[in-house]
Order: sequence, then structure tokens, then C-alpha cells
Amino acid sequence: MALIVTGGAGFVGSHMVDILVQEGYEIYIIDNLFSGKLENLPQPLPNNVTFVKKDLRKIEQNDPMFKDVEAIFHIAAQASVSFSVREIYEDLSINVTGSIKLFQAAVHHDVENLIYISSGGAIYGDVDTFPTNEEAPTNPVSPYGISKLTGEKYLQYFAHDYGLKYTIIRPSNIYGPRQSPDGEAGVISIFLNQLKKSEPLHIFGDGNNTRDYIYVKDIVDLCYKAFQRPTNEAYNAGTGIETSVNQLVKIIEKVTRLKAQVVYDPPRPGDARRSVLDCSKAKKRLNWEPKVQLKEGIQYVWEWIKQQS
Ligand SMILES: NC(=O)c1ccc[n+]([C@@H]2O[C@H](COP(=O)([O-])OP(=O)(O)OC[C@H]3O[C@@H](n4cnc5c(N)ncnc54)[C@H](O)[C@@H]3O)[C@@H](O)[C@H]2O)c1
Repeated sequence: MALIVTGGAGFVGSHMVDILVQEGYEIYIIDNLFSGKLENLPQPLPNNVTFVKKDLRKIEQNDPMFKDVEAIFHIAAQASVSFSVREIYEDLSINVTGSIKLFQAAVHHDVENLIYISSGGAIYGDVDTFPTNEEAPTNPVSPYGISKLTGEKYLQYFAHDYGLKYTIIRPSNIYGPRQSPDGEAGVISIFLNQLKKSEPLHIFGDGNNTRDYIYVKDIVDLCYKAFQRPTNEAYNAGTGIETSVNQLVKIIEKVTRLKAQVVYDPPRPGDARRSVLDCSKAKKRLNWEPKVQLKEGIQYVWEWIKQQS
């Protein structure tokens, strides 16, 4: 039996591939390299890994790749909020139509188990309960949040009508090696890259906005646990710890032993003031807890960034 990882050439997906390779699975990676890179994958590609350059939206229901597949990790997405605002139809098409195409091929081939990465930062929208748990109302405030939430709903529809087992993972702000510093998210990667080049760090607003930063290996660890024990549930995946951007800069200075030059820019419209997830459900039901503390995780990212040319 094989596994499929969509978005396996991306930041999170490539770490998922690493775990599954370690565990000895046969893997098909579906990725069109929209934002992913082949360099993110193990070099050379192990014999049990097949890279398939394909757009999710081009998946045929009867695609033979899905035959004898045990589970799918659906990680591919258009993952940028600002792109979703600029290119609203493209976001809809990748995240919703692409997901539906995948789910249709999965149920057509009786794939039993699907793990879908949603977004804990984007689907709840403006909330007033912190930390936010899975029972909070979902009122996304960006096209990206809407498309990720819609993906969840379609997955639940396919599970209901075709008996597909599933898990929805709703991560907070993920960070780690291989995260691109080019997007608007990934502030840790952005700041560390700026420091490496002796550039100033730009903070939008007063730096008191908070986020819940979760290390990428903890996320793929949870996906693996969910694969082993599907529960047809949605789980928040963060640390439950709020860190402000100003605090983040202090930790980064400690880790890198470099003094950051900070520039405060006007706040970005739509940026939430606070974001932190209550993840006790994943702890209780899947026996999962994040293992990597922020300072330690930043250290790993810094080591990785220093090695990049
Ligand atoms: N990075 C975060 O902080 C974060 C937080 C919450 C949720 N997520 C979710 O995690 C997942 C991975 O995000 P990431 O940060 O690794 O982003 P990423 O851009 O590095 O990875 C996304 C991958 O999907 C691929 N892809 C995009 N469109 C595709 C298409 N039409 N067909 C096939 N492949 C396609 C890209 O090429 C890329 O390899 C996404 O589903 C995202 O919504 C990310």
C-alpha cells in the first residue's frame, strides 16, 4: 500500500515526506511546483518516492496512481492570504476545485483515510476567545480562510456520503527550515534571512500583535498520529502560547547573538491583533503535544539558514 502527499515539494509537505520516508512507506508526491521546490525533497529521491508534477485541478477521477493507496496527506494549497485577495478566483480554484478533484479520485479508488491541512490562523476570523478552541465560530475574513474552510466542508461531505475517514488539522503559524522568506507569512524565516543579510527587520504596527508559533516537525508529527488513528474530527495544532512580534525579535537576537535594527511600519490592514489556539483536544484524543520550544526551533531554523547560499 502506498501513500500520497500533495504539496510534498512545499515547506510543510517536504517535512511530511521526510517522516514517511523514515517510516519506509511508498510515497507518491503530487505537486505542480507552484510554490514548492524540488530541492526541498531528499536528494537523490529514494526509490520508494515518486514525484508526480501535476496540478491538483488536473487529477482525473480514475487516475491509476490512486489505486492501492492507503491514505492521502492533502497539504498542497495556495497558502498566501495576500495572493488570495489579489487572485480570488485562482485561490478558489486551487484550494477548492483542486481539493474536490483529489477527494473524487480518493473515493473512486476507495482510499480509506485522508488528512487535510486546514488553517487555524485563517478559518476562525475575528474571535474574542483566547486561546481559541475548535468550537469557536468559523468566520474567515480572507478569501484564503474561506477557501481553506470550504475544503474542510467538502471533505466532510465526501466522508459523509462515501465513508472516507478523515482528520482535519488546523495549524497556527508554522515555522521551520525550508520555509520561504518571500511570502507575507513566515515571519521567523523572513526576520532570520534579513538578519543574515544585515538588513533591518520590518514590523507592521507596534509589534504587540501576537501569534502562536508551532515548529513544522510538531505539525507533521500530528499528521502522522492522525493517519494512524483517524477520528473524523478537526484539531487545532499550535502551542497555546502567545508571542508578540517584539518578543520574537528578542528571542531571535538571543539565538543569533546579533543585534537587530527594527523598523516599525504602518499596520497591515486585516492583520489580527491576537491569535493563539487551544490544542487540548489533540492532546486528549491523539495524545499529541508540541515538543519543540520556540527558542529551540528558531535555533534549528537559524542553523539551516546559515547553511544556505
Ligand atoms: N505555513 C503556515 O504557517 C501554515 C499555517 C496553517 C496552514 N498551512 C497550510 O499548510 C499547507 C502547506 O503550506 P506551506 O506553508 O508548506 O506552503 P507551500 O507554499 O510551501 O506549500 C504548498 C505546496 O502546494 C503546492 N501546490 C500549490 N498549488 C498546487 C496545485 N494546484 N497543484 C499541486 N500542487 C500545488 C505548491 O507547489 C507547494 O509545494 C497549506 O495547505 C497551507 O494552507 C500553512
